[in-house]
Amino acid sequence: MCGIVGIVGNQPVAPRLVDALRRLEYRGYDSAGVATIVSGKLERRRAEGKLFNLEKRLDEQPLDGTTGIAHTRWATHGAPTEANAHPHFTDGVAVVHNGIIENFSEIKDELLAGGAEFHTQTDTEVVAQLLAKLRRDGLGRREAMHTMLRRVRGAYALAVMFEDDPSTIMAARSGPPLAIGYGRGEMFLGSDAIALAPFTNEISYLTDGDWAVIGRDGAYVFDLEGNRVERPRQVSQAAAYMIDKGNHRHFMEKEIYEQPEVVSHALSHYVDFIEHRAKAGTDDIDFATVPSLAISACGTAYLAGLVGKYWFERYARLPVEIDVASEFRYREIPLNPASAALFISQSGETADTLASLRYCRENGLKIGAVVNVRESTIARESDAVFPILAGPEIGVASTKAFTCQLSVLAALAIAAGRARGTVSQAEEQELVRQLAEMPRIMSSVLNSIQPTIEHLARELSKCRDVLYLGRGTSYPLAMEGALKLKEISYIHAEGYAAGELKHGPIALIDENMPVIVIAPFDRFYEKTVSNMQEVAARGGRIILITDEDGARASKLPTMATIVLPNVGEIISPMIYSLPIQLLAYHTAVFMGTDVDQPRNLAKSVTVE
Ligand code: G6P
Repeated sequence: MCGIVGIVGNQPVAPRLVDALRRLEYRGYDSAGVATIVSGKLERRRAEGKLFNLEKRLDEQPLDGTTGIAHTRWATHGAPTEANAHPHFTDGVAVVHNGIIENFSEIKDELLAGGAEFHTQTDTEVVAQLLAKLRRDGLGRREAMHTMLRRVRGAYALAVMFEDDPSTIMAARSGPPLAIGYGRGEMFLGSDAIALAPFTNEISYLTDGDWAVIGRDGAYVFDLEGNRVERPRQVSQAAAYMIDKGNHRHFMEKEIYEQPEVVSHALSHYVDFIEHRAKAGTDDIDFATVPSLAISACGTAYLAGLVGKYWFERYARLPVEIDVASEFRYREIPLNPASAALFISQSGETADTLASLRYCRENGLKIGAVVNVRESTIARESDAVFPILAGPEIGVASTKAFTCQLSVLAALAIAAGRARGTVSQAEEQELVRQLAEMPRIMSSVLNSIQPTIEHLARELSKCRDVLYLGRGTSYPLAMEGALKLKEISYIHAEGYAAGELKHGPIALIDENMPVIVIAPFDRFYEKTVSNMQEVAARGGRIILITDEDGARASKLPTMATIVLPNVGEIISPMIYSLPIQLLAYHTAVFMGTDVDQPRNLAKSVTVE
């Protein structure tokens, strides 16, 4: 949700700031802007829409200056116009912001009463206006920054420049992440380590409540009371990742096709294929003794958690309380302090997930994080970290992170089952054998289903609504299929538990409504087929995703049947993810949408 970058350098910074913004564009792409100080004056270039609009603007009107801040926006307050684009300027103060200033209207009213004139509809402008006023009142730069920070409430990562100090950037964090990067004679600031990777791998993260004064040769970090604090420097691994599309049209396509490889990499950390055992991965959470598990996450990560619930309950007989993090955090759930909680997040920065984590921490639970970004806030605030090892995921619609999250959760559920004596050695060996087969089966599915999917996607691209149905672990998958389709093709889609069809959605079924039924030939197959009969009886068009046995057993006329190999039950959610991802992808490609950066969405959601 908005990306921030800053450089205190010794050569022109605008091109490098834009380069860093490109690596942050996944955080938002409604508008972008860059500000520097040129000959003692603040200067800026801003543009509505994607980063290339800003690049065009900079080509026409280049920007000098060796100190600068920049921003890519996901709009919260105020339309995504150039006027609302950051950096915001007021009387020699420049500000970029990620997050929400919750008490902005109260501060704004005060400033308006004092004669201030506002030029944007953003909450951020109050920060610039308040700093300018404090300076006019005679406060020094640091004093003004400290006073402003004690006044604003909410979630923020901020970078500030004062015109009268062209070799310093100030920064502050309360919520969204912010990293300081150490260079040689240059210093950097960024929303994540990947943004800073081309410049430095020496990083330190600000902690909530920290603020910093960054000069060319180093940084001073303070807490909210104004005391100097030290934050450890670490070597970031971000530079090791190549961020390009290879031979693929989109990052999403590349990430779909990477799954056999990344899933195999993830599994090798959680499964001992020689001993045929799942590794528990930590002593910090004792799955043998915890009475229950709480799981919370958002979006696709939540749906991975929902599949995990089925597994922990079935294999480890461990009751799971699960909810989307935006509800979990406010439900005042009575939690048992002897329990453990798992938070699933690709980015490790999602605001609601982090708030749920802190709620569980306050209630005394052991905290585990299933994350992709190991240096993230959620990882840092957890007792046990379970990295999913998917590598950077750039496409806003999550694909490989989902199947890696599932792989890690499957291994953890098996390990928990062994620890609790609910999975026998023979069962564990069989489940591990299934996991071992998964990367190979994924490759063969990816190599074979493309023509059927492309044909179907052409049909789906003409539809207004699509329904997805599934039972058991195929139910969260139905929701994930619907989420993927609506995210990137903008077609309205819903995922339902197949048994719920008759309690409402059946009213929608007619010859225009495709119903995608996810039905491996498992213990739920016959029940799901009965629900398909209900669809067929009302003229609905069925797309059946099943396996060889399921295709043989189905007697119903379908619009299409996607046939996958017969696979073990524990890996079916990962294998069946592939057709639903590809179906959404190719439908979006037919419709000509912006697949990697769909409208209104952002990959990392650091506001409530
Ligand atoms: C956003 C993204 C989704 C993602 C969700 C949770 O909505 O568009 O793809 O699943 O956030 O993100 P997280 O980083 O916590 O997994």
